[in-house]
Amino acid sequence: MKIAASFLDIKEPKCEELTKLDKLDIDYIHLDVMDGIFVENKTYTYEEFYDIVKFTTKPKDIHLMVSDVKKYIDDFSKLKPDYITFHFEAVSEVSSVINYIKNLGIKVGISIKPSTDVSEIIDYLDYIDLVLVMSVEPGRGGQAFMEDSLNKVEQLYSLREKNNYNYIIEIDGGINDETIKKCEKVDMCVVGSFITKGDYEERIRKLRD
Ligand code: DX5
Ligand code: ZN
Repeated sequence: MKIAASFLDIKEPKCEELTKLDKLDIDYIHLDVMDGIFVENKTYTYEEFYDIVKFTTKPKDIHLMVSDVKKYIDDFSKLKPDYITFHFEAVSEVSSVINYIKNLGIKVGISIKPSTDVSEIIDYLDYIDLVLVMSVEPGRGGQAFMEDSLNKVEQLYSLREKNNYNYIIEIDGGINDETIKKCEKVDMCVVGSFITKGDYEERIRKLRD
């Protein structure tokens, strides 16, 4: 199980906190990007993110919670992330966005909100590298894990087996040392407040146990 740490809930200064996280046993830094339109909250500009991520050497997993997807891809691809994930609900031309990211040499993820079914993205599963199942409403950290998301994980797992698809399954929202135990079919868990609201090293050790 891979762990992607989200620093959404860290208060300033993020640079020191990122330096601290960089030394610990996490696989990715998960960057939550919000535009104040697709979701109510707004995170940093690309320039601000650019300054913050200088303090990490971990591979980057970008989660775009934005409406103007292509504009954000243009900016955030400059951070050389491993993955860029966009929201299925935010775009009309899904295949075109998939190809847009692929052509930049970056792995592509599609994220679905709690109210979106796996059946809605079925046509794209053969073309993507990651499916991000939201286990909370996108927009802020610290919410409770929605158990229903596990049905989607189950469906994605069996669809992958049956069709030899290559995507990894990621889950995001409300993951802690208890809820992670229910995620054995998940390949990558995003963890925000559970890590950042405690002693980082100890919290990560608890997740790994
Ligand atoms: C929520 C974000 C998450 C968030 C997770 O919209 O996508 O990545 O930071 O935070 P926790 O782990 O606190 O639910
Ligand atoms: Zn996220």
